[in-house]
Amino acid sequence: MAANAILVAVDGQSADDWVQQLRLHAPGRDIRRWPQDSGNLAGIAYACVWRAPHGLLATFANLKAIIALSAGVDHVLADPKLPQVPIARVVHPDLTMRMVEYIVLHVLLHHRHQRRYDAQQRERVWKLHEQPPASEVAVGIMGLGAIGTKAGKVLADIGFQVAGWSRTQKNASGIEVFYGQGALDPFLNRTEILVCVLPATAATDGILNLRLFRRLKRNGALRGAYLINAARGRVQIDADILTALAEGSLAGATLDVFAQEPLPASSPLWTHPQVTITPHNAGDISPRLLAREIIAQIERIERGEKLLHLVDRRAGY
Ligand SMILES: NC(=O)c1ccc[n+]([C@@H]2O[C@H](COP(=O)([O-])OP(=O)(O)OC[C@H]3O[C@@H](n4cnc5c(N)ncnc54)[C@H](OP(=O)(O)O)[C@@H]3O)[C@@H](O)[C@H]2O)c1
Repeated sequence: MAANAILVAVDGQSADDWVQQLRLHAPGRDIRRWPQDSGNLAGIAYACVWRAPHGLLATFANLKAIIALSAGVDHVLADPKLPQVPIARVVHPDLTMRMVEYIVLHVLLHHRHQRRYDAQQRERVWKLHEQPPASEVAVGIMGLGAIGTKAGKVLADIGFQVAGWSRTQKNASGIEVFYGQGALDPFLNRTEILVCVLPATAATDGILNLRLFRRLKRNGALRGAYLINAARGRVQIDADILTALAEGSLAGATLDVFAQEPLPASSPLWTHPQVTITPHNAGDISPRLLAREIIAQIERIERGEKLLHLVDRRAGY
C-alpha cells in the first residue's frame, strides 16, 4: 500500500494539539505522533515538524514532503541528513498579524517612552518627556517578506518613515526599499528604530553586531537608536548588544529570540534596564487556526499540485 500517513514531530512542546486539530480537519486519516505512535515508518508520507531531531526524517523511506510548523525553517535545514523532498513553511494571516502586533507594540513602547514612564510610576514621578511625531522617526525593517512588509505598512499608516531591507528588489507601497549587501549601510544610516525579521541563514548569522549598531542613526528625542529582534537568536550577537548599550550606539533593545532558548538565567540581558525580554512569543502559532491549511497543503500534493510557501534550500529560507 502506498504511504500516506501524516506524522507530527515536535520537540520541546506537546504534539497533542496538532494531532487533535489535524484529525478534526481530516477525519479517518492516519495521523501519528512522534515518538510514541510513529508506527511503521515506511507508511509515513508527510512530516509536520518543529525542531525534530536531526536524522529522524531520513528514516522515513517514503516521505513525500516536509511541512515546517513555523515560518522559519532554520531548524529543518540544519539537519545534515535532510531528505530531498519539497519543504513548505507557514505563511498565515494569523501568524503575520501576531508578529505585526508585536513589532508595532514594541516600536510604540519605545517611541512613546513607555518604559521610562513605567519606571517613573514605580517612583511616583510625574514628568513629561519630549514626544517626537511619528513622521520624524525612521523605522527600518530588515526582512521584507510576509511579516516585514505587513508590519512596515501598518507602521507607515501610523505615520512613521518606514524603510525595508531585503535580498532582492521589490515594491511595497509606503515603504522605501533597500536591497542587497551594498544597500545595507545607507539603510542603517537612515534608521533609528531597527526591526529584524530576517530568516536565520548562513548570510544572516550574527548580522546584528556592533559594526551594524554603530551605523544606525541616533534620534536625540528618543535617546538613540533602538533594536527589536523578532527573527531568530542566531542573527544577533548578545555581547555586541551589551557593548552597544554601554557605549550608546543603542538606547535599548527588545529581544524575543536567543541563540540559546530559554535564555540562561546567567545572561546579563535579563536584568539590563534598557532591555525588554520576551520568551520567543512574538508569533505564537495556533494549531487550531493552522491545521486546516496544513491538511490543504497535503491535499495539494495528492492532487499533483505544488506546495504553497515552498522553501528555497539554496537561499536557506
Ligand atoms: N519570533 C517569532 O515568534 C517568529 C515568528 C515567525 C517568524 N519569525 C522569523 O521571521 C522570519 C521572517 O518570516 P517571513 O515569513 O516574513 O519570511 P519571508 O517571507 O521568507 O521573508 C524573509 C525576508 O528576509 C529577506 N532576506 C533573507 N535573506 C536576506 C539577506 N541575506 N539579506 C537581506 N534580506 C534577506 C528576504 O528577502 P527577499 O524578499 O529578497 O527574498 C525576505 O524579504 C522567519 O524566517 C523567522 O525566523 C519569528
